[in-house]
Amino acid sequence: MNNIIVIDDEHYICGIIKEALGDFENCQVTIFTDPEKASSYIENNSVDLVLTDLVMGSFSGESILETTLKNHPDSIVILMTGYPTIRTAISVLRKGGYDYLIKPFKLENLKATIMRGLEHQRLKRENVELRSQLELMKVKDALARGIRLQPLISLIVDSAINVLPAQGASVLLRDRKTGEYALQYQAGVLLNPRAISFLRGSYLETGIDFAERQPYLISEDVEVEGQLYKSSLVAVPMISNSEIVGILNLIHMDRFNHISPGQIRLSTLLAMLVTSAVESNQKDRDLKRSYLMTIKALANAIEARDKYTAGHTDRVYKIAIILARRLNWSSAKLANLRTGCILHDIGKIGVPDCILNKPERLNDEEMEVMKRHPQLGVRILTGIPFMDAALPFIISHHEKYDGTGYPYGLRGEEIPIEGRLLAVVDTFDAIMSDRPYRSGGSVQTAVDELIRNKGIQFDPHIVDIFLEAFNSGSITRAMNYKRKANREAILSRI
Ligand SMILES: [Fe+2]
Repeated sequence: MNNIIVIDDEHYICGIIKEALGDFENCQVTIFTDPEKASSYIENNSVDLVLTDLVMGSFSGESILETTLKNHPDSIVILMTGYPTIRTAISVLRKGGYDYLIKPFKLENLKATIMRGLEHQRLKRENVELRSQLELMKVKDALARGIRLQPLISLIVDSAINVLPAQGASVLLRDRKTGEYALQYQAGVLLNPRAISFLRGSYLETGIDFAERQPYLISEDVEVEGQLYKSSLVAVPMISNSEIVGILNLIHMDRFNHISPGQIRLSTLLAMLVTSAVESNQKDRDLKRSYLMTIKALANAIEARDKYTAGHTDRVYKIAIILARRLNWSSAKLANLRTGCILHDIGKIGVPDCILNKPERLNDEEMEVMKRHPQLGVRILTGIPFMDAALPFIISHHEKYDGTGYPYGLRGEEIPIEGRLLAVVDTFDAIMSDRPYRSGGSVQTAVDELIRNKGIQFDPHIVDIFLEAFNSGSITRAMNYKRKANREAILSRI
């Protein structure tokens, strides 16, 4: 229903216009002869089109135009005047007036102008709707492309703000184990503290459990900076397999209307999109965990074959993460470090026992077989989802900074940083481990070896970072913890 307002201080003109518009479908026409009352009505009610006289005593139609567009930016305002001037016409159109009618006008012309205006408005609103659908398409496309969870949640929350529209929105995710909700992302320009606390889930303290699986809605009138608003606070539960996995919160504030049932349906649709994102992320994580467990079982199998390196990969990871943090690796890169450390020697699966556990030093031929383990490792993992991140660790942990390492003889920064880091930590732990042909060296021997080979075998910067960490005591602490755990693990096997 289009709400049309007609304002003219001459009563009979209002009457004629109202009668002329009587056959318009889906239109409600309200007339005002008092421009001040009209102005107040416009400030407090929903309005689609305003037809106003330009000069009404001391009151100007331009003031009605400004009030209308300030309160209803997509409304249509048509001015009428019996005293046209070019200057006034330009001024009215510049201020956003849709058209300008010169009295006396034919009622047919008036009707045609109003119909054109309403059509223009319909197209504008349809455009907004299309933009909304485009926003949703963007989200669906991102979902289909398997974008990571956090950016996807940000995208959905931002889309909710645009398409609803909403003043603020947030997503809380529920921890499966504890049942606690944690804020994942929040956006919008919030003018009152109540809205901010709502977005952070303050309403959960009242014991709301979404047992009915329906959105929780608070509709109220609030005053913000002296202006009254219809405020709707909506919390839409995100349900996956009958379980609540999170909540999409939205703050809708409008001068004239509370959130509509259609907008609540749209919110539910957006919550379903977040749910899909959470579900697919969970599946990815489960799959990744199951891959990692399988591969870890393989890595354990190698360690079981080579009794002298028991606990080696765990210790390597524990020390490597200390260095990686000091090198300011991103959280994504840190997450890959664990996989890389666990799997770096996975290729030893393909090295025969007689070489792997030979009590004497390896001869040249045997050494050549041993040196194949980085490439064998890559071959084992290539094509397995999520394992790509481990490949740089595996392929390059035996490269040397001076170019004399294997398998490719890469030099300096040609060697991936993952390999340069792992080379330092791997060697450090290996020197201290017992071998069939020698006893493990002391910590000091291992540190001296790193210093001696700084810039030769090892990246000098990473050795410096290692020494800083070592001098701070953090490496010793990590080693003691791990050695103790390892000793206990070995004792439990006896
Ligand atoms: Fe290795």
